[in-house]
Amino acid sequence: MSCSTWGPAAAGGLALAVALGACTTTDHAQMEEAQLAREGRQLAETYCASCHDIDEGTSPHPDAPSFARAANRYPPDMLGEAFAEGIQVGHPDMPVFEMDVPNIERLTAYLRTLRDEDG
Ligand code: HEC
Repeated sequence: MSCSTWGPAAAGGLALAVALGACTTTDHAQMEEAQLAREGRQLAETYCASCHDIDEGTSPHPDAPSFARAANRYPPDMLGEAFAEGIQVGHPDMPVFEMDVPNIERLTAYLRTLRDEDG
């Protein structure tokens, strides 16, 4: 999966590799990430939007940060781990969500799209 590595350093080589048709996995991984993020947004709408604004607006629950704020405060992958372990990340009013790994990946993919900087 070396072709799926994505970052500024890879950009130059990437254009070349795509031109050569040698790195289709990268295209594929990016499409997958976008698809995951779309599905994650739907999950967030279903499970989280009653308390959290799932973009960067004002949350319905006065104590719940918007997801854009949460995503910028914590690395989404870290949040994903916390959910995987069933940790309540300081959620007094929040039910414990039993999330399976595919759903956690969807949610963290979505949270990554909300971060101001890549990462
Ligand atoms: C019943 C209301 C409720 C629901 C539903 C809910 N949350 Fe929360 N969430 C909260 C509250 C309230 C806080 C703030 C807790 C605090 O700061 O003490 C919080 C905090 C968080 C934080 C930590 C943010 C931070 O900056 O500390 C994350 C991440 C989070 N929620 C993710 C989620 C996700 C993902 C979902 C859906 C799967 C979800 N929440 C659903 C009420 C809710």
